[in-house]
Amino acid sequence: MEGSAVTSAEGFAEASPGPADAAGDQSPVDASRYVFNPFASDFIRDPYPHYAKLRALDPVHFAPIGAYVVSRHADVGTVLKDRRFGKAFVERSAKRYGSEVVREPLFDHMSKTMLLSDPPHHTRLRNLVVKAFTARQVEAMRPRIQQVVDQALDAVVDRGKMDLVSEFAYHPPVTIICDMLGIPDDERGFFHAVSEDSVRVLESAAFTPEEIAAANSRVKSVRDYFERLYEQCRRRPGNDLTTQLVMAEEDGNRLTNEELTASIMLLFVAGHETTINLIGNSLITLHRNPDQMALLRTDPGLIHNAIDEFLRYEPSIQFTGRVALEDMELADKRIAKGDNIVCLLASANRDAAVYPDRPDEFDITRRNSKPLSFGGGIHFCLGAQLARLQTEIAVTTLLRRLPRLQIDDVENPAWKPNFVIRGPRVLPASW
Ligand code: HEM
Repeated sequence: MEGSAVTSAEGFAEASPGPADAAGDQSPVDASRYVFNPFASDFIRDPYPHYAKLRALDPVHFAPIGAYVVSRHADVGTVLKDRRFGKAFVERSAKRYGSEVVREPLFDHMSKTMLLSDPPHHTRLRNLVVKAFTARQVEAMRPRIQQVVDQALDAVVDRGKMDLVSEFAYHPPVTIICDMLGIPDDERGFFHAVSEDSVRVLESAAFTPEEIAAANSRVKSVRDYFERLYEQCRRRPGNDLTTQLVMAEEDGNRLTNEELTASIMLLFVAGHETTINLIGNSLITLHRNPDQMALLRTDPGLIHNAIDEFLRYEPSIQFTGRVALEDMELADKRIAKGDNIVCLLASANRDAAVYPDRPDEFDITRRNSKPLSFGGGIHFCLGAQLARLQTEIAVTTLLRRLPRLQIDDVENPAWKPNFVIRGPRVLPASW
């Protein structure tokens, strides 16, 4: 989720494409001259041949973006779990923007999220939030998710066509996370703007000073808004996640108001874009593989396996980032303290060392799949069960209620022009 090492789109574009740029090129490639280029013209349409080349030629590859790109399942798993890699968010941002800027609201706010913290701060934040996020609580959301999915379909069913992204996949994740956090309908646009600032920080695309100033002022408004809400929650505790977080306590330890706001905004950001895209990708993949869709219709009990396979085959988060906290070796490469690492989750999921049986095929009967799509180690996705449940209900309900649905141009959908988040921008369909 966190693309710490990706400095900017320009950073990639500056990279000479090199002899192996066209992943479809079958000529032998000199590994020492190979340059990974996710800005190659065909990359967004189909990144997987590029990942295959990386795994084969240079699995811990120093790319011109100034980061080691790690592509094999074993190495990605090691980086995610080995405590010698961390986030070092403040240090990394200070290097880039200066130590003064890092003390301003935007960076201060992001540094208080568990996603960008290292232990012991991370442990404390996660322990307090995880309490309000148990499997039982997620399962209790099933009827509400079903209702939101049904309402989205009721609104379009007589029309015979819709955009599956904005009119369908969007609704369950956004409505559920806003319900959970008590964010009212008319405030969602404002929170969305702050959420976009956060995504920018995660992607590490360079901010201009003007953008930082605008983002600082949005963060201040959000903090003011929530401070008023926390006072209300303390006086009149409700049944929502915000109240649970306000009240959450461990060893006499509570979240400060700033930590509360950072945690709530993180849940808002992480809880919607990722799942919208997983639902979109799952629908594309099923329609590209009609035999598998037919199998799922005949045996709906395969849905949990199918979700593992959606996650493995077309994950909505393609990579996450880490920083080396000390000098070390990874595979055969010497990594120095402070080096940036890109962990290619989506590449690890296609590694033949773990998936010897047709790793590039979509197969909902695949057993013991261990996709790394929710990360691993101490930052393993807190919302994994919620994302699974929403995808399950969205996909099964759509298959049942619109059995004749067809996606226009399913072989060539309009992918978002984004390397971190993979998913369709729009997905027109009819029935
Ligand atoms: C398909 C949907 C989702 C995907 C693919 C996804 C993916 C990820 C990944 C890869 C990470 C680890 C990042 C890292 O190691 O740097 C992560 C962390 C996280 N995710 Fe998700 N996520 C999804 C849905 C959700 C939802 C629905 C929520 C909450 C409502 C959520 C909340 C979080 C949080 C709070 C973290 C940070 C955990 C930590 O740092 O300890 N995610 N997610």
